[in-house]
Amino acid sequence: MTVLQVSNVSRDYGEKNNIVHALQDISFSAAQGEFIAIVGTSGSGKSTLLNLVGGLDTPDKGSIIIRERELSGLSRKELTIFRRRNIGFVFQDYSLMPVLNVYDNTVLPVTFDKGSYVDHSFIEQLLKELGLWDKRTRYPNELSGGQQQRVALARALAAKPAIILADEPTGNLDSRNAVEVMGLLKNSVKKFGQTILMVTHNESLAQTCDRILHIEDGRLLPERSGE
Ligand SMILES: Nc1ncnc2c1ncn2[C@@H]1O[C@H](COP(=O)(O)OP(=O)(O)OP(=O)(O)O)[C@@H](O)[C@H]1O
Ligand SMILES: [Mg+2]
Repeated sequence: MTVLQVSNVSRDYGEKNNIVHALQDISFSAAQGEFIAIVGTSGSGKSTLLNLVGGLDTPDKGSIIIRERELSGLSRKELTIFRRRNIGFVFQDYSLMPVLNVYDNTVLPVTFDKGSYVDHSFIEQLLKELGLWDKRTRYPNELSGGQQQRVALARALAAKPAIILADEPTGNLDSRNAVEVMGLLKNSVKKFGQTILMVTHNESLAQTCDRILHIEDGRLLPERSGE
């Protein structure tokens, strides 16, 4: 089943003499449960692509369809709700709320969503799986980088989204923690049938994914089969 369909998407920044073609005519689709790595040099357009798929930014051309809904057809309000329910974000810098403890950071996106309730037993299960249950009343500044990134992962998974967008989720971690966070992401995909788009500079991590999308100068390179 196709969860995500990106068709002929382009995004420019700046204007006239200073125009940057951040993405040009990008098309691909992602099936349910696929773990996709996005690789490319700095400035090639990887974060731009995640921002567009996540509805944080809008394409100048083309369409993005998630679970049969075209993002550009949604109002601002609809998009906010759609995003909370269908998309989980994990960023390199964790983006945790310093004034909230581990538990409250995890449930934050769900508590924002008036139509949803917090499934406490699921959150407990999630935090236990991520080795964070004992830390649930701790604050981000009391945690290691690896632990903070696991909280960010818990938060992204809390609403059981169809798609997880991860921008260099292991970029600030040492190799041991990077492997661990990757393992947890992989388990989640399997268990909940989620699709993950993960930007990474780590070639060996990319090789462990179902597919690799290479972006260069805003363009998608043809996919090699067997990758
Ligand atoms: N908000 C913005 N305004 C202007 N230019 C932007 C903006 N966002 C991105 N760009 C430009 O678009 C291009 C693609 O940027 P993007 O952040 O997607 O690259 P990236 O592949 O994520 O790079 P990195 O690996 O360094 O994170 C770059 O040339 C960047 O300078
Ligand atoms: Mg980036």
